[in-house]
Amino acid sequence: MPALRTEERLVARIQKLKASRQAIILAHNYQVGEIQDVADFLGDSLELSQKAAQTDAKVIVFCGVHFMAETAAILCPSQTVLLPDLAAGCGMSDMITPEDVRELKEAHPDAIVVCYVNSSAEVKAESDICCTSSNAANVVRSIPEDREVIFIPDQYLGDYVTRLTGRKLILFNGYCPTHFRIMTSDMEASKMAHPDALVLAHPECTPEVSALADEVLSTSGICMASQKTNKTEVIVATETGMLHRLKKENPEKEFIPACRWCDCSHMKVNTLEKLLWSLEEMQHPVVVEESIRLRALGAIDRMLEIGR
Ligand code: 13P
Ligand code: SF4
Repeated sequence: MPALRTEERLVARIQKLKASRQAIILAHNYQVGEIQDVADFLGDSLELSQKAAQTDAKVIVFCGVHFMAETAAILCPSQTVLLPDLAAGCGMSDMITPEDVRELKEAHPDAIVVCYVNSSAEVKAESDICCTSSNAANVVRSIPEDREVIFIPDQYLGDYVTRLTGRKLILFNGYCPTHFRIMTSDMEASKMAHPDALVLAHPECTPEVSALADEVLSTSGICMASQKTNKTEVIVATETGMLHRLKKENPEKEFIPACRWCDCSHMKVNTLEKLLWSLEEMQHPVVVEESIRLRALGAIDRMLEIGR
């Protein structure tokens, strides 16, 4: 029998340990290809939190970034949520503190606070309702027209929601340092080189970049639009980890990254080896202090009631 390659050996050990630990592996669409392939479920932030809320697995290994694992920990206090590498943070989430939210609330005492899921549990605890890139507009639409809305922390997602809903939002100046790397010149050059391509962008892109796209969608929205289109070329303005899933699901289509440097270093710290160690050593558990958890849960539950 031929010897197994290192990757195959790692995958076999992960599968075995996963079964004995009664674990589920959830992975975000930006994870490295090997992790996407071994995951039980792959999705965008909303789908991953819905999946976490539904699973009865004893252990949830979250291959994504800290705020995603933390959201799962808020939803599943009696299950163990593991993050393979605690260095998997989020540049945007780090831009806002609970004090920032309290200051905004003091300045606008009657406003409803809508918080993008890319934020810490403490920031969610200060918020009324959470949202993700796939339901942000519907979350804002659910708020009575006569109420002011504070939208934190992503100014570009907020700007996109304003364009979709016509609602004037009070914005915070956060943004995603990864998507910020995509320039309008990248979009223009990609479109020039592939004039017939469908152009898809993530709403964390700057408004100028989003304006050059045919559709602005969450990561799983990008996957669905790519499957649906009759076009054979798709320009993708988001993190490059997406390309693995897109190519795998649509082998007959060509996917062109609008910017080749759009890598999220946080998303890329997870590896197959770290996933295996995580299951072996039960590392690193993500736990949220109970009073914060309960307040943050309110904001997340209100979002899950709305869905997509
Ligand atoms: P999605 O919810 O669209 O997957 O986005 C998460 C994210 O962090 C994008 O940078
Ligand atoms: Fe955060 Fe941006 Fe990375 Fe998404 S791509 S996890 S928003 S730094």
